[in-house]
Amino acid sequence: MHLAFEAAPAADAIPITFVTKPTWRDVSAGLPAEARRFSEANAFAAKPGQCLTLPAADGRIAQVLFGLEEDGAKWRDPFRPGLLPGLLPPGLYRFANAPHDARLAALAFALGSYRFARYRDNAAPKARLVLPDGVDAADVSRMAEAAALARDLINTPANDMGPEQLALSAQQLASRFGASFSCIVGDDLLRQNFPLIHAVGMASTRPPRLIDFSWGDPGHPKVTLAGKGVCFDTGGLDLKPSAGMLIMKKDMGGAANVLALASMVMEAKLKLRLRVLIPAVENAVAGNAFRPLDIFTSRKGVTVEIGNTDAEGRLILADALALADEENPELLIDMGTLTGAARVALGPDLPPFYTNDETLALDVARCSAAENDPLWRMPLWPPYDSWLDSKVANLNNAPSGTFAGSITCALFLQRFVEAAKSWLHVDIYGWTPAAKPGRPEGGECQAARAIYRLLSERYG
Ligand code: BES
Ligand code: MN
Ligand code: ZN
Repeated sequence: MHLAFEAAPAADAIPITFVTKPTWRDVSAGLPAEARRFSEANAFAAKPGQCLTLPAADGRIAQVLFGLEEDGAKWRDPFRPGLLPGLLPPGLYRFANAPHDARLAALAFALGSYRFARYRDNAAPKARLVLPDGVDAADVSRMAEAAALARDLINTPANDMGPEQLALSAQQLASRFGASFSCIVGDDLLRQNFPLIHAVGMASTRPPRLIDFSWGDPGHPKVTLAGKGVCFDTGGLDLKPSAGMLIMKKDMGGAANVLALASMVMEAKLKLRLRVLIPAVENAVAGNAFRPLDIFTSRKGVTVEIGNTDAEGRLILADALALADEENPELLIDMGTLTGAARVALGPDLPPFYTNDETLALDVARCSAAENDPLWRMPLWPPYDSWLDSKVANLNNAPSGTFAGSITCALFLQRFVEAAKSWLHVDIYGWTPAAKPGRPEGGECQAARAIYRLLSERYG
């Protein structure tokens, strides 16, 4: 990945001055007369996101002005400086004064420098930044690299990111940190009792698999991550209409974000025993596809009736969570692009999270705000649990009716977690539909940075 940061002497770098509407008058008064006239001629008004490069007498860039939201504004986007790499010409820059949050501004600069370039020269911005004083270079770089990993995995289309390629990426990451890796493929899933992963993935010519790797001192507290790895979601026999199917290459976004989180945890050498579980499948259509009203006995022994083959993510995660639960982890975290209902409730940029651990809920909310990695708690509402009842099996994977779809999905998954001391579930979107500061359009890293911060606080 292109590294946006540089540890060069700041004297050589072009200064970026952050201004707001109220501070602009003083800043402008302090500028040389030519520069003041130049900014007037360009109608620079310090609007949030407005950028102006001021020329020096010799024609080089003397400095950059960049508008931010003023103090007391309804919302100040800490990632606003993430626009800079897309606006500035190649060169070395530094912050001349403090933005809202220097660390998040620098992180946004790196996140905003990302471009997906696997299939064409999608030239990444060439502006580089001298890290502001007091910012932990290693920590910010590992966050930016983890986000790039998640984005690359999601952006890679399904023809090049099937279950096997996803497993290969996980294996590469595992071997980089000396983690022990294993993978159960195809009919071995039945032999080793993962009936739901097999059922969802069997219609694809690319066999389903369960990716499993462990890292760290076995004596440390056990933290297990499970990520939904649906490499493409056609909906199965309950076929999605084309508009709904279009971006379903992103349906392995949970897996991508779990790998991003794992990379940060291992790179920072947190004092925990990490286990990563990724059920990787393609939800395809074929004569041997699983069908509506089929009934499978899950790994946990619970029988599950298929109300809808498009509610496949919760099925594969159910078997992965059951396996994770067998070794009573201290903390069990799962992530996945599980429901359209989560988007109806909170939109693409604010994934809901679920837990019954009140301390964990407070910590997640605090870390999410601190990292500008938005998450919002929703309830595991017990009265809705009976909506999962089936007349012929223990559970139905898709309650009839369209109410509270993200909650009923979370309640479904909760049935497979018993022994874990604490459980966190995040229903992510994994995609930025329209570019925002620090967030180019396409695959997105969600929840990984917030949870990384939480884990570093607990196990750093
Ligand atoms: N992968 C989808 C959820 C999804 C759709 C996420 C669009 C983001 C954007 C998931 O597998 C799915 O299809 N869920 C169904 C569940 C329903 C059939 C109970 C949904 O949300 O419609
Ligand atoms: Mn689906
Ligand atoms: Zn899906």
